[in-house]
Amino acid sequence: MTESRFQARHILITGGGGEIGQAAAERLTAEGAHVSLLDIDGDKLAAAAARLAELGNAPRTYACDITDAAAVADTVAQVIDDGGPLVGLFNNAGYQGAFAPVQDYPGDDFARVMQINVVGAFNVLQRVSRAMITAGRGGAVVNTASMAGLSGPPNMPAYGTSKAAIIGLTQTAAKDLAPHDIRVNAVSPGFIGPGFMWERQVEQQASVASPYYADEPDAVAAQMIASVPMRRYGRLDEIASAVAFLLSDDASYMTGTNLPLSGGGA
Ligand SMILES: NC(=O)c1ccc[n+]([C@@H]2O[C@H](COP(=O)([O-])OP(=O)(O)OC[C@H]3O[C@@H](n4cnc5c(N)ncnc54)[C@H](O)[C@@H]3O)[C@@H](O)[C@H]2O)c1
Repeated sequence: MTESRFQARHILITGGGGEIGQAAAERLTAEGAHVSLLDIDGDKLAAAAARLAELGNAPRTYACDITDAAAVADTVAQVIDDGGPLVGLFNNAGYQGAFAPVQDYPGDDFARVMQINVVGAFNVLQRVSRAMITAGRGGAVVNTASMAGLSGPPNMPAYGTSKAAIIGLTQTAAKDLAPHDIRVNAVSPGFIGPGFMWERQVEQQASVASPYYADEPDAVAAQMIASVPMRRYGRLDEIASAVAFLLSDDASYMTGTNLPLSGGGA
């Protein structure tokens, strides 16, 4: 690890109260960044901030719903007022949605998933990239997609669609922002655990009567792990490492890519 890779760099992390957001915050601050955390959930933000403070780096925190474009505009302006120009964005907030086959999937939840995972990510990317262009110092963005956006997991039509859209947004934004020296890449985590999303997807897939998974969570977990060539789920710090790489100058000639973090799984 290069301790000074992000020395004095201000990086915004959305979903900063969540598991992957926190892991990235820890990694980036350990390498010298000062991070600002944004999340809709004030309690999660407070817990994440307390944990980082214990490690010696209390971040600024911002409660904001990324689906509210006006609130995102105000919050991004405040983040920059408080912490200085942003040179990095980990655009990571997300929602897994319901689990049901497409023919039964609740329409209101489909809209909610798209609103958070796609429109919300767009709102943040637009505001931060505008500010980066104005500041004229370039920058780097990492969007959190998912293997679900590449593989079409059963019973997750909204989530898979939303993450495929994030890969598309990453590719277009990379082209639009390259003239401003702003790189845009994505990471696609596969099965990551242990943690909330892992437990939830194992339980939810078990609860949906489908030909793809068993009806008991431990059996579903075993099926999922068996589908991964490396025969284990990924750790949060393994996601954080890839995010740090893509945000750093070590990835200075990479833009528009989507990095699968899946132990070889499709
Ligand atoms: N954990 C996994 O297995 C996995 C796999 C692939 C992709 N991902 C993606 O990684 C990202 C982070 O997920 P995680 O695993 O840390 O889950 P998490 O639930 O711990 O974190 C997600 C965070 O996003 C926040 N959030 C949700 N809606 C929001 C909104 N409208 N405005 C602002 N914040 C909002 C939540 O409060 C939460 O803190 C998500 O985009 C998720 O889809 C996770």
